[in-house]
Amino acid sequence: MQIHNLSISHLRNIQPCKLDFSDQLNIIYGDNAAGKTSILEALYILGNGRSFRTAKHAKVIEHQQDAFTLFAQFQSLESQHKLGLKRQRNGDITIKLNQESVKKLSDLATTFPVQVLAPEQYELLSKGPSARRKLLDWGVFHVEHSFLNLWQRSLKILLHRNQLLKTAKSYRDIEIWDKQLIPLSEAITEKRQRYVEQLSPIYQNIIEQFITDVDTRLHLYPGWAAQKSLTDLLPEQFDKDRRVGFTQSSIQKADLKIYSGSQLAVEYLSRGQQKMVITALKLAQLKLMQQQGQQYPIFLLDDIGAELDQHHQQKLLKFLANQPEKQQIFITCVHLDPLKSLIKRYNKASLFHVEHGRVQQIEEPTQPN
Ligand SMILES: Nc1ncnc2c1ncn2[C@@H]1O[C@H](COP(=O)(O)OP(=O)(O)OP(=O)(O)O)[C@@H](O)[C@H]1O
Ligand SMILES: [Mg+2]
Repeated sequence: MQIHNLSISHLRNIQPCKLDFSDQLNIIYGDNAAGKTSILEALYILGNGRSFRTAKHAKVIEHQQDAFTLFAQFQSLESQHKLGLKRQRNGDITIKLNQESVKKLSDLATTFPVQVLAPEQYELLSKGPSARRKLLDWGVFHVEHSFLNLWQRSLKILLHRNQLLKTAKSYRDIEIWDKQLIPLSEAITEKRQRYVEQLSPIYQNIIEQFITDVDTRLHLYPGWAAQKSLTDLLPEQFDKDRRVGFTQSSIQKADLKIYSGSQLAVEYLSRGQQKMVITALKLAQLKLMQQQGQQYPIFLLDDIGAELDQHHQQKLLKFLANQPEKQQIFITCVHLDPLKSLIKRYNKASLFHVEHGRVQQIEEPTQPN
């Protein structure tokens, strides 16, 4: 998909504006605290209903204002769309796609897919499994939309099961739920596994372009010891589940683990190498969607140079310079210079300068400053 323009009002420090984007490359630059990430945040919210920086919706609304609104025109699956989104301080959200109300955020995610790589995510390997599981499921959902329904159904049963654990006298009291939960969990794991198998060679190909001295590989942990089946595990663990008050072996415990040799990558790789691993992972997800003829998500890269040395930054830029024409990219940076060769490579690039929340489109895209 490609977003043609975006109007922003009352979002963080951004002054009301309408931005006309390039279908290919958009660079947003300016000093610290100018409002660059806030623009990416607006784009992300359009596809997800929420920010990638905070779960607290009110934080995104400009101080002293009751709501922010976004309005965009974009092209998706060969047709043109209009999307409007308003988030109020009390949390209420109104979304209209081509004048019709959108009730489910998952509908938004299929129509307006967004992939983001921001410095916050450089912690992905050292944090708990939940962020990696979200990244994994984001990918599975986008290559197989039926995944969401399976996942929601199993989540409901799991919640119910955990509730029942509080009162159940014997395993027989919850067995009936497990009869539904097990096949759903297996179907979910199979989809996740297939996704990791498809993603792995693409990831390997990209990471080899970025770091040459260490090997890394992706591995799916399904949420329980893989050599055991849930049919055996759930009754076996019933007493312990009851004691701890939740189901210990479940798809909600799954993890996308990244190993270097027999060790977890986080225990072996340098911080910079970890950043490259995460970058390669995100790029691989994008590439898999491109290869499968899916809609291309818009790709948001926040603070592209800030956390990488020059050598690795150049490798990343070189990779971005070879993206397919239909891939729309948004990059924020403080310094434009390192991006000049990338800008030259694209015949359609747009530049936006941000200063104290005021966004200005720079007219001569091929000759910045
Ligand atoms: N709700 C809000 N209302 C008004 N201003 C806000 C709000 N939330 C954050 N800000 C301010 O908006 C400014 C822009 O923040 P943003 O993170 O977009 O800057 P940035 O250009 O990405 O900076 P950096 O280069 O440091 O990453 C900051 O000064 C921040 O304090
Ligand atoms: Mg920023």
